[in-house]
Amino acid sequence: MDYLQIEGGAKLHGSISISGAKNAALPIIAATLLSDKELELSNLPHVVDIRTLLKLLTMLGGKVDYNDNVAIIDNSHINSHKAVYEIVSQMRASILVLGPLLARFGECEVSLPGGCAIGQRPIDLHLKALEAMGAHIEIRGGYVRAEAPNGLHGAKIVFDKITVGGTENTVMAAALAKGVTTIINAAKEPEVVQLCEMIAAAGVKIEGIGTNELTIYGTDRELLTFQPTRIIPDRIEAGTYLCAAAITHSSITLTDVDAHHIRASMNKLEEMGCRFDITEETITIHPPEVIKPVNLVTTEYPGFPTDMQAQFMAVLVKANGESLIEETLFENRFMHVSELNRLGADIWLKGNIAAVHPIEELYGADVMATDLRASSALVLAALVAKGTTNVHRIYHLDRGYDNLEGKLSALGANIVRLKETPKY
Ligand code: UD1
Repeated sequence: MDYLQIEGGAKLHGSISISGAKNAALPIIAATLLSDKELELSNLPHVVDIRTLLKLLTMLGGKVDYNDNVAIIDNSHINSHKAVYEIVSQMRASILVLGPLLARFGECEVSLPGGCAIGQRPIDLHLKALEAMGAHIEIRGGYVRAEAPNGLHGAKIVFDKITVGGTENTVMAAALAKGVTTIINAAKEPEVVQLCEMIAAAGVKIEGIGTNELTIYGTDRELLTFQPTRIIPDRIEAGTYLCAAAITHSSITLTDVDAHHIRASMNKLEEMGCRFDITEETITIHPPEVIKPVNLVTTEYPGFPTDMQAQFMAVLVKANGESLIEETLFENRFMHVSELNRLGADIWLKGNIAAVHPIEELYGADVMATDLRASSALVLAALVAKGTTNVHRIYHLDRGYDNLEGKLSALGANIVRLKETPKY
């Protein structure tokens, strides 16, 4: 197992390029199951989650040629409709193959993802939507078994809660269903928008893209022919590097980034005293010498993203006053608090609210990554902690950050990846 060793105190400078968005690429890879024609996806990030989903495609009988951020995918010979536990347990997003497999083949089995570090994360809304479209679903032996031998039909789906994955699964299923599907209270994250645009570019009429109400005119199982698709920039990776600049009081430039997608994070950084120069594809951040405290509440897009909550908490540890952070999406997404406190932070938790109190200094220590975004929060804190911090269990980080230590080193941080060696 690897860990990251970080020597705190270095200023950052220069520019780095933002990779493609993992959370956009995953549903798009799943959507390739709606086609039996070869297609090209580019700007894929080099992260473990992408390799895991591509592996699942090959286990289903797909052909994948993956090189240098580009995958050529051919799903013309899918011969299995079962997403096995060994893959789904590694990555919850594998549940995204449920909608497309069921819509194309009229049956499939997908392992239940189970709980995950940040909370319970049920898939009841995915299943309810598919049932409304005519699927018969049962849970047996840890698997979701879904059948719709005569295909799915259009339906009116009203989501009780806004769900990104649930919206994506339903859109993919609706694309091959017979008739019209309307999704009320749909998610409108940029990643959902890109999925809809890719399916629309394949000839499926979709109304309301980018809004909370989507109408999809299904093809009645006529398979799709996709255009080559370039994955949008990763707004969470971009936000994480803006936080790295803020916490180290360093001006840096991000290239290949879309500022529209990270407006909520940039607004908070502005409240904290940062200034920005923005062009079509670049953002330069100018942080203040003293970070101002802010309060924030996580919510659906275009609100403040839960996937940036941990990183902002790390920056706010160094603010000159108290900040309050409320997490409304996931019930257990504060596991980084105790690890940040190991570095000397003073954060108090009550339910889903964290109070971040000001402190003079952070001090390097051994800390453990607990989930993907929590891992990057620990790296951010380590950049300004006095002395050496070792961040263990970075397999979480490798699931979603493309070459984090390479990019931070290029900006001037003292960070190296090392191999764990048993000490006792
Ligand atoms: C996606 C993102 C994840 C991000 C999250 C919220 C991917 C691969 N992952 O996850 O990084 O943190 O959106 O922006 O894109 N819920 C239910 N029942 C369901 C589905 C969801 O109750 O059937 C609840 C969840 O527990 C959570 C809320 O709805 O409280 C939002 O979850 P959802 O938007 O579905 O998150 P994911 O798609 O899993």
